[in-house]
Amino acid sequence: MKIWAHRGCSQNYPENTLTAFEKAAALAQKGLTGIELDIQLTKDGHMVVCHDEKVDRTTDGTGELRNFTLAELKKLKIDAGNGTYERIPTIEEVLDLLADRLKSGFRLNIELKNSVFPYPGMEEKIIALVREYGVEEGIVYSSFSALSVERIRKINPKAQTGILDTKVSDCLYKLKGGCGADALHPFWRGIDLPKERLEGYTVRAWLSGHLYPEKPTGTKLDLSLLEAQGITDVFLNEPERYLG
Ligand code: G3P
Ligand code: CA
Repeated sequence: MKIWAHRGCSQNYPENTLTAFEKAAALAQKGLTGIELDIQLTKDGHMVVCHDEKVDRTTDGTGELRNFTLAELKKLKIDAGNGTYERIPTIEEVLDLLADRLKSGFRLNIELKNSVFPYPGMEEKIIALVREYGVEEGIVYSSFSALSVERIRKINPKAQTGILDTKVSDCLYKLKGGCGADALHPFWRGIDLPKERLEGYTVRAWLSGHLYPEKPTGTKLDLSLLEAQGITDVFLNEPERYLG
């Protein structure tokens, strides 16, 4: 089972922050496959890393991210505990942090958060930037939007892609319906097809819940049970708990 850090190490550090990504990158030597994060566009066209369309949950600001310029967003504080703060990172800051690792096998799944607001032009922008950094080999692009995945594949046919949905059957439906994609990215509880139907596919399943500062509850997942369902990779909020 390949393990990825979902929004970085997002159980013990604020999600989608440079600290969460630094902590995850340090797990590369323990076998972490890569990091997943979410990108959106600011009012002035910068790509920033943030999960929600609104800044309310993760920062001290309010309103839709797309209505902020980068300079305005950078003023917002992300509470990191003990009086310390993080800022919403740009994707450039994350690529600066990870570029060397991405050239030597570590991976980054960039989810384009564009199914609520389409953010026209984001596909072109991220593909051009990844090319500039020379890290194409390490990147997997994903989206819940089949049109966006299709667009990425059209712009760069060599780009690695994953199609997101809750149920794996819906991921497969979108893939076969024309978006292509190299991998299926379902919710971990959304495996509604028998393993035989998933043979030959890369199936990267994501978990939800238990994000910083919420304390973890429940027992450790038995990853072999996920593997038995045909899942090949898993995005975990607390990958550090699963790596030796
Ligand atoms: O990319 C996998 C997963 O992150 C998709 O769901 O809501 O956590 O972005 P969400
Ligand atoms: Ca995501």
